[in-house]
Amino acid sequence: MHIVITGGAGFLGQRLAARLLARGELRGEAVQRLTLVDQLEPPCPPSDTVDVEGLALDITEPGALDSVLDARPHVVYHLAAVVSSAAEADLDLGMEVNFDATRALLEGCRERGLANTRLIMASSVAAYGGELPAVLDDMTALQPQNSYGTQKAMCELLINDYSRRGLIDGCVLRLPTIIVRPGRPNAAASSFASSILREPLNDEEAICPVAPSLELFVMSPAKVIEALVHGAEVPGEALAPFRAFMLPGITVSVAEMLDTLRQVAGDEALARVRHEPDPRIEAIVASWPARFETRRAQALGFAGDRSLHDIVMAFLEERSR
Ligand SMILES: NC(=O)c1ccc[n+]([C@@H]2O[C@H](COP(=O)([O-])OP(=O)(O)OC[C@H]3O[C@@H](n4cnc5c(N)ncnc54)[C@H](O)[C@@H]3O)[C@@H](O)[C@H]2O)c1
Repeated sequence: MHIVITGGAGFLGQRLAARLLARGELRGEAVQRLTLVDQLEPPCPPSDTVDVEGLALDITEPGALDSVLDARPHVVYHLAAVVSSAAEADLDLGMEVNFDATRALLEGCRERGLANTRLIMASSVAAYGGELPAVLDDMTALQPQNSYGTQKAMCELLINDYSRRGLIDGCVLRLPTIIVRPGRPNAAASSFASSILREPLNDEEAICPVAPSLELFVMSPAKVIEALVHGAEVPGEALAPFRAFMLPGITVSVAEMLDTLRQVAGDEALARVRHEPDPRIEAIVASWPARFETRRAQALGFAGDRSLHDIVMAFLEERSR
C-alpha cells in the first residue's frame, strides 16, 4: 500500500502520517510506502517498516506531482491548501493552490488511469453560506460566501464528477472547525477557536475576536484523523451518488467554550481571554453554519466527539505526553 499526503508538512498531514505509521495498515493491507509532499520538505516520522519520503514540491507548478503519480499510489490524501483568511486575502493564490492544483491532480490521475486510487480531499464548513436552514444536512445547497469556501465547493463537484466517470475513486470530507489545535495561531479565520482555549490553558493571553453567542461546528484533531483514515476504507459504491459530506462534529457556542475553559482551568484561565471584536473575522466565521444533521457520515461509519469537555481534556492529555 502506497499512500501520498499533499500538505504533508501541515497540521493534519503530519498527524495523519504518524497515525498511518502507527496503524501499519490501511484497507487490510500493510502500509509499505508513505510519500509526504509540501512546499518545504516535510519532516518524515521515523519508521522501521515503511519507506517514508518527504518531497519539497510546489503543487501549483506544472507537472509538480508527475513523479508522485507515476508511482501509482493506492491512496492520495489531498490536504495541501491555502487556508481561509489567506485565500480571502489573495484570490490568485487561493485559486492556484486550492482549485487549479486540485484540478491538475485530478488530471494527473486521469492521464495515468488511476481509476482505483482513492483520492481523499478535506473540504470545509466554509463551503456553505448564504441563506441557510436552521439545521443543515447533506442535501443543503452550497452557497459559499468567501473564496476559500468557493474553491472547496468547486473541488467537491470536480472530484465527484471524476469519480462518477470512473477516472478516480474520490471521497471528500467536509471537516468541522478543528479544536483544540496545538501550536501557534495560523491564518485560518477560525484560528481563535483554538486560541481561546489553548493559550489560557498554557498560561498565555488570548484574544476572542467574535461575540460569545457565535456558534461553531467543531471536531477534535484525533477524530478528524480517524475520519481521514476511515475515508480511505469506505467502499466507493457506498459513497455514490455524491461523494462529499459533512463529518459528525458538535455544535458549540463561544460562550460554552469559555465556560468549559473555566470549568477545567478556573477563573484565572478565563480572565486570560481578552474580548476584542474583529468584524473581518466575525464576518467570515459567522457565515459558516454551526448546526448539522450528519446522518450520512454516521451511516458510513464516521464518528465524532462526545462533548466539548472531552475535546478539551484530550488536548490536556496530549500536552502532558
Ligand atoms: N484545520 C481545520 O480546522 C480545517 C478545517 C476544514 C478544512 N481543513 C482543510 O484540511 C486540509 C489540511 O489543513 P491543515 O489544518 O493541516 O492546514 P495546514 O495549513 O497546516 O496545512 C496545509 C499545508 O499545505 C501546504 N501547501 C500550501 N500551498 C502549497 C503548495 N503550493 N504546494 C505544496 N504544499 C502547499 C502548506 O505548506 C501546509 O503545510 C486543508 O485542505 C484545509 O483546507 C482544515
